[in-house]
Amino acid sequence: MSATLIDGKAVAEQIREEIKSRVAQLRTQGVVPGLGVILVGEDPASVSYVTAKEKACEEAGIASFEHRLPADISLESLLGYVRAFNEDPRVHGILVQLPLPRHIDEKAVIAAIAPEKDVDGFTPVNVGRMLLEEPCFLPCTPNGVLELIKRTGVKTDGAHVVIVGRSNIVGKPLANLFIRKSINSTVTLCHTGTHDLASYCKRADILVACAGKPRLITADMIKEGACVIDVGVNRVADPTAKKGYRLVGDVDFSGALEVAGFLTPVPGGVGPMTITMLLQNTVESASRA
Ligand code: GUN
Repeated sequence: MSATLIDGKAVAEQIREEIKSRVAQLRTQGVVPGLGVILVGEDPASVSYVTAKEKACEEAGIASFEHRLPADISLESLLGYVRAFNEDPRVHGILVQLPLPRHIDEKAVIAAIAPEKDVDGFTPVNVGRMLLEEPCFLPCTPNGVLELIKRTGVKTDGAHVVIVGRSNIVGKPLANLFIRKSINSTVTLCHTGTHDLASYCKRADILVACAGKPRLITADMIKEGACVIDVGVNRVADPTAKKGYRLVGDVDFSGALEVAGFLTPVPGGVGPMTITMLLQNTVESASRA
């Protein structure tokens, strides 16, 4: 058996066309959706994400405003940039790329983002609203995962979902979204403290790997026919590659291909969906403004 690949890039492109026409519509009303981006330091993965996000904005007709700031910036001065975006009427969404350098209090920075511009869905206000199912911006990667599953036609009602990873950005919010009545899954959330990870994964109808560990999930941990969503983006050294590294997910791709029913590739699976959900939230914010 060989899994059906879930083409995140194709699904993302389809949604981006829908977004593009919404942006064009807003522009005729004199509203240009705008995203304010803050990148601190020069972490290569973060630079590459931010560049991809800005390129996607441009293609969709969304304006982007960017601050690339030095890694040794003080918390106070970083907060100044966030507040300036909060007050800038051209900016409908604010993205502070994470992780931030160690000396910066990440929580303080996130909390400073105006909730109505929090298109990442990271502020305490947004997280609370999500939990209570009040109108809010859903975090981009979890929302992208759900959209991908929905558009692939995989049944979530009554499904047993196993999530591996408990980050604030992916694992925790995703677990929460899967238990909404409208999605109606049963969730097991595994993490580094889980004993015998394989025994849990093996029971999953839908398995989401978001641990940030290259090839953590191997074929023997996957139930025959399961839908496997790989959120991991890990750089592993590869002397034969032009850049000296290659991207792999948290799932051993070639092994999983033999057992799973559906599988997302890395790259080209969840990644493009995350960016698309960011564009969607930004446009949504602009149309409310
Ligand atoms: N770092 C990794 N993923 C994300 C994301 O979705 N948003 C932000 N701001 N930082 C990230």
